[in-house]
Amino acid sequence: RIVNVVLSGGVGSRLWPLSRKSRPKQYLPIFEGKTLFQKTVARNRLYADEILVVGNKDNYELTRKDMEGDNLGPYTELVEASPRNTAAAIAFSAFHCQEEDILFVTPSDHLISPGDAYEAAVKRAIALATEENIVTFGLKPSHPETGYGYIEALGEDVKEFHEKPGLERANYFFKNGGYLWNSGMFCFKAGVFLEELRKYETEIFDQAYAAYMLKKQIFLPQKESLQIPSLSVDYAVMERSKKIKVVSADFEWSDMGSFEAIYDYFKEMGHYLDGSGNMVIGTNTHIEFTGLTNTLLIFTNDAVLALKKENSQEVKEVFQRLENER
Ligand code: GDD
Ligand code: MG
Repeated sequence: RIVNVVLSGGVGSRLWPLSRKSRPKQYLPIFEGKTLFQKTVARNRLYADEILVVGNKDNYELTRKDMEGDNLGPYTELVEASPRNTAAAIAFSAFHCQEEDILFVTPSDHLISPGDAYEAAVKRAIALATEENIVTFGLKPSHPETGYGYIEALGEDVKEFHEKPGLERANYFFKNGGYLWNSGMFCFKAGVFLEELRKYETEIFDQAYAAYMLKKQIFLPQKESLQIPSLSVDYAVMERSKKIKVVSADFEWSDMGSFEAIYDYFKEMGHYLDGSGNMVIGTNTHIEFTGLTNTLLIFTNDAVLALKKENSQEVKEVFQRLENER
């Protein structure tokens, strides 16, 4: 059985103020009227026997509306009481499945062109996962991005996985040529993943299991969840496991994770940009830039963000500061 695990519990803090706790970026209908969540499910259900969404209580209704609104068919959901990052979210999905089930784990916030190249990569990943590997999808880097993981690859073998390097190391990886970006999609048997998680992050395994066992129907408990260390699967398992493989992802992919990525997307779509790397999102007010380059202005009805494009990763800190002040 192949289960598409859709990770949908992130808040998208780097896209504040567009993305809010009450409407994370994967539920914004800004891609020709569809949301990234809907596009993800539509793309992947072709390869799966079952859809298992792992979301959280703040977006439970949004998930339901997206699924029903786009006629995306039956699905199961696990609802987190509070987000504990992707290691825990994937662990819940693995506890929910049979050991031998193949989990095809996909984020819900990527823009990918479905097609032959995508299908070939998914099918190869499933084949490798059947042989007890933990499979990542590697993309050819186009710039020294610090928001992604890097995979040191020799064919399908992985020498090392480096999650979110600093700029200096990202530059080195980019220039070296032997490194691929981690797409954030994974494929493995539920049992293989749990074995590796238990080996490298016993605390996450134990606490996630305890929380999972106390869930009420599809709802995970708040108190026990807060005991789970919050760590991404990339640090918890991918950087450490010896079972990692990579399939090359020759399809069009973009992580709508930051305003820099949104800028690139809108640029391709032919939206208005002023030629100096400036862009305005979310208002019809006439705006002029003088003496500014690579400046982005993001408008919503109750907040405006102004930022330098190259500082897109730092919006996360703004979001966190505002959260703490609440
Ligand atoms: N259910 C649940 N619970 N989902 C979560 C949680 C959580 O606590 N935290 C994040 N997610 C979901 C997000 O909604 C997203 O779909 C996915 O998991 C990945 O989380 P991100 O927070 O977007 O990760 P990232 O972009 O910083 O890094 C990952 O993706 C990059 C490519 O986009 C890593 O895998 C990198 O190595 C990779 O390069
Ligand atoms: Mg992301």
